[in-house]
Amino acid sequence: MATVPAADALVRADQATLWHPASHFDDAALLPPIPIRAARGPWLERADGGRILDAIASWWTSVHGHCEPTVIEAIATQARTLDHVMFAGFTHAPAVTLARGLLDAAGPGFGRVFYADSGSDAIEIAAKLSVQYHQQRGDGRRTRFAALEHGYHGETLGALALCGSPVYRAPFSPLLREVLFLPTPELRGHQHDALHGDAGADDPACERALALLERDADTLAAIVIEPLVQCAGQMRMTGVGFHRRIVERARALGIHVIADEIAVGFGRTGRMFASDWSGATADFLCLGKGLSGGALPLSAVLIGADIESAFRGAPERAFAHSHTFCGNPIATAAAEASLSLLRARLGPAVDATIAALAQAQRTVAQSCPAVVASRQCGAIVAFTLAPHRRRPDDGRIGLALRRAALARGVLLRPLGDTLYWMPPLCLEPDAIATLTAVTCAAIDEVLG
Ligand SMILES: Cc1ncc(COP(=O)(O)O)c(C=O)c1O
Repeated sequence: MATVPAADALVRADQATLWHPASHFDDAALLPPIPIRAARGPWLERADGGRILDAIASWWTSVHGHCEPTVIEAIATQARTLDHVMFAGFTHAPAVTLARGLLDAAGPGFGRVFYADSGSDAIEIAAKLSVQYHQQRGDGRRTRFAALEHGYHGETLGALALCGSPVYRAPFSPLLREVLFLPTPELRGHQHDALHGDAGADDPACERALALLERDADTLAAIVIEPLVQCAGQMRMTGVGFHRRIVERARALGIHVIADEIAVGFGRTGRMFASDWSGATADFLCLGKGLSGGALPLSAVLIGADIESAFRGAPERAFAHSHTFCGNPIATAAAEASLSLLRARLGPAVDATIAALAQAQRTVAQSCPAVVASRQCGAIVAFTLAPHRRRPDDGRIGLALRRAALARGVLLRPLGDTLYWMPPLCLEPDAIATLTAVTCAAIDEVLG
């Protein structure tokens, strides 16, 4: 059996060999990677002792908490039976059962499921399907995409082009296709405001967005939207009414709608999918992150029931796209277990967490003078911060807050001056109390 290096030796070996995502080499001196030896529920166990409350569900993946027994059992059972088989020309029960479950959950507008590995893959697949659909329907002018300002859809080149924030795009701009970016509302306030049926519909940004869609309608293949919350876009909440108006107008103009629910799907807003709040159905529904319960890489595109007809006929009309691990049995078995669990938990159990988070949000907003705005959509809570009595010397509020919270045993990863919570869905009251107290203490330490 391989020996496990002690925590500090592991960090040294890591620093000599690995390149971490979304990390700057020079920051490792301030905040070296933390060795984790186990995880259970919302808690990560440090290799050197102590535990960390994972208040951001490890990049928004962990729906039920880590090592959820039902999901882990499904993985173990499946791994003993069938680890993998290529998905071109073969099939298996976990992939079929999951597809049926996803289609039932999403409603009759969708007819098929295409599996992939990451959220970025799912976006690329939906975008390619849309363009090919229009071409094969004889509408070859529809080759462009619209997306929302501040949106985020992944970092492969096709998905990156659709990101409405220069932060991610800038170094690669010579490689990115031109995209029509539409203005987005920014809602503030409490739970019921963000989820109110008309929220964002009468915002001036909505009218401007609709006008741009109308103007370019003939050349647009699809619009890509994160329903209700632009998570990487500093948890900007855009509203149910805005979502409904954009989806309905786009579809009326013959523009496909790609709903990116990679972050907001699977109960994060209190319903299975964020689109459920508006009832406005997309042509493509992209899922990832929490799809497997957060345990394994898996993504999926749910495809509108009327899309496949354009791909029938001559052999060259097929969708020529594949990923090696498409439909992996272990990942789809995990996802099936997670979906069943979520179906049982959505409703009273998740609503109770959301109500407790609303109370915690009020406590933080009232006790911290540096909080200038706060907002909530389901189990997603965000605070906008401004320096009160002090600011970090290097101006990096997010990094300073991350360090301050970690020192107190909570994983927060603010997006600039936006501190947010997006924990596993069933968080116990004592964990919410810890989260509240540590958030206040970290804000107080860094910003006063
Ligand atoms: C809304 C949204 N879309 C797409 C992605 C990309 O997913 P992945 O990192 O799995 O490629 C993300 C990742 O954060 C996301 O939040």
